[in-house]
Amino acid sequence: MTAATPMRPEGTAADWTVPQDWKRYTPAEHALWDRLFARQAAMLPGRVAPAFLAGLDVLRLSKPGIPDFDELSDRLMKATGWQVVAVPGLVPDDVFYEHLANRRFVAGNFIRTPDQIDYLEEPDVFHDVFGHVPLLADPVFADYMQAYGEGGRRAGGMDAIDKLARLYWYTVEFGLIRDGDGLKLYGAGIVSSFGESRFALEDDSPNRLGFDLRRVMRTRYRIDDYQQTYFVIDSFDDLLRQTQETDFAPLYAALETQADLDPETILPTDRVITRGSQTHARRHSA
Ligand code: PHE
Ligand code: FE
Repeated sequence: MTAATPMRPEGTAADWTVPQDWKRYTPAEHALWDRLFARQAAMLPGRVAPAFLAGLDVLRLSKPGIPDFDELSDRLMKATGWQVVAVPGLVPDDVFYEHLANRRFVAGNFIRTPDQIDYLEEPDVFHDVFGHVPLLADPVFADYMQAYGEGGRRAGGMDAIDKLARLYWYTVEFGLIRDGDGLKLYGAGIVSSFGESRFALEDDSPNRLGFDLRRVMRTRYRIDDYQQTYFVIDSFDDLLRQTQETDFAPLYAALETQADLDPETILPTDRVITRGSQTHARRHSA
């Protein structure tokens, strides 16, 4: 993801990338990846969108150790024409969008420390690669991510980055997808989190609402705890079609005159799948 306007660290290229320098990882770092991987791999079958599991498989992500980005990019390039490039941390919005628009996913090259196994503030290689990369092997999701990058370039010129960022948050990071009568996970922030992968699907605390583009763009989000509302898409095809066919410029303009919504708000017009008790959020703000 992105941050306001950090300074470009020394040793990074103009596009903020660095060599991954795979040989630098210690045995303990590879072991930490394996531990995180095993924990999520045990949790996800039956909970995650089938396209995610298919991606883990074609990209051979179950191979032990932190993935080598060159090797990963070779496989991903064959599947959908995407690459994974290393960055030392968060990058500015415009840099992030430019990479996405060119089918390059920027991934942090560092791994969390053992005491951050359940929680960390900056996305590391486990979140970025395990969470995001499997779905980039899905042709439709891959196109959505590129379209999002192109949309980001436009939004920058319209002072609408915050609205577009909400779309990313509630789909790419924390999205749920309908699967027959049930729901499945696909957002990277959920699938890379041990706690939230159960919470998002099974806890009675959060709201689960049908995805609505304009509604999502009005909705603030929290970055410090599990989400209070998840938005549910019907399919990746539907997400791509809706976002591609809509010119966001008039939408951004219209939203200027509408108030933002709090994360837990439910509107009379919402398609409510689950009305959450919000007990988790209340307990944590008390
Ligand atoms: N249709 C969007 C626009 O007009 C571009 C976009 C596509 C944004 C897909 C996000 C996802 O800006
Ligand atoms: Fe992310």
